[in-house]
Amino acid sequence: MSVTLKVRDLSKTYGHGEQAVRAVRNASFSTEPGEFVAVVGPSGSGKTTLLAMVGGLLTPTSGTIEVNGRDIAGLNAGQQAAYRRESVGYVFQANNLLPFLTARENLQMISRITGANGRAARQRADQLLEELGLTNRANAVATELSGGERQRVAIGRALMNDPELVLVDEPTASLDSARGRQVVESLIQEVKSRGKLGLMVTHDMAMAELADRIIEMHDGELNVRGKLAASG
Ligand SMILES: Nc1ncnc2c1ncn2[C@@H]1O[C@H](COP(=O)(O)OP(=O)(O)OP(=O)(O)O)[C@@H](O)[C@H]1O
Ligand SMILES: [Mg+2]
Repeated sequence: MSVTLKVRDLSKTYGHGEQAVRAVRNASFSTEPGEFVAVVGPSGSGKTTLLAMVGGLLTPTSGTIEVNGRDIAGLNAGQQAAYRRESVGYVFQANNLLPFLTARENLQMISRITGANGRAARQRADQLLEELGLTNRANAVATELSGGERQRVAIGRALMNDPELVLVDEPTASLDSARGRQVVESLIQEVKSRGKLGLMVTHDMAMAELADRIIEMHDGELNVRGKLAASG
């Protein structure tokens, strides 16, 4: 796997006329295979909108998003669905697990949809649950899990199909700092070892500093910079 992303002049405007919200404005950046990029910025600055466009969930108003040289902004609905299914692992801000399935079943579920056989799916699920420190919660149904545990299951689910792009919106919101760091470190490991691309929205600067680069968003505008020097 060796994923490149090139975003050029990307914009998204919601609504029209006086109601128009320019959520992302002329964003441009590109990434190398194995790069893990943090996206930070105040509430409403356009972070989720940017992630949703890169993930093929939202069509841009203008601009291009090239994944391995192919512009995914120009795909039709069917192609967009295939791109999402085959290439993207998405952890949403609200991690919608299926409530009456266990942690393990929430992972295996994804694999069944894409046709992996039962035994391989079970092994992959158990491996991810272990990496995320959830082995002892594998058989708990989602409604019995804590917020942080559910978030970790959602991350495992996003990684099940070995996606090229791992897009994560606020993974650490309900994790304490030690656990949050561990989860982000295992995500980074997954991205680096397989040449994927990771994009992670976070409010937590300590988490952002673990990334290779940081994209700061303000009112829809991007400012990309290198790794923060450890301060203090
Ligand atoms: N479906 C929508 N229709 C209209 N406006 C929207 C829609 N989704 C988002 N917005 C607006 O676009 C702007 C960017 O929203 P977005 O959700 O991308 O911000 P965010 O940086 O992810 O914020 P947060 O940190 O609170 O999650 C905000 O002003 C928001 O109100
Ligand atoms: Mg958001």
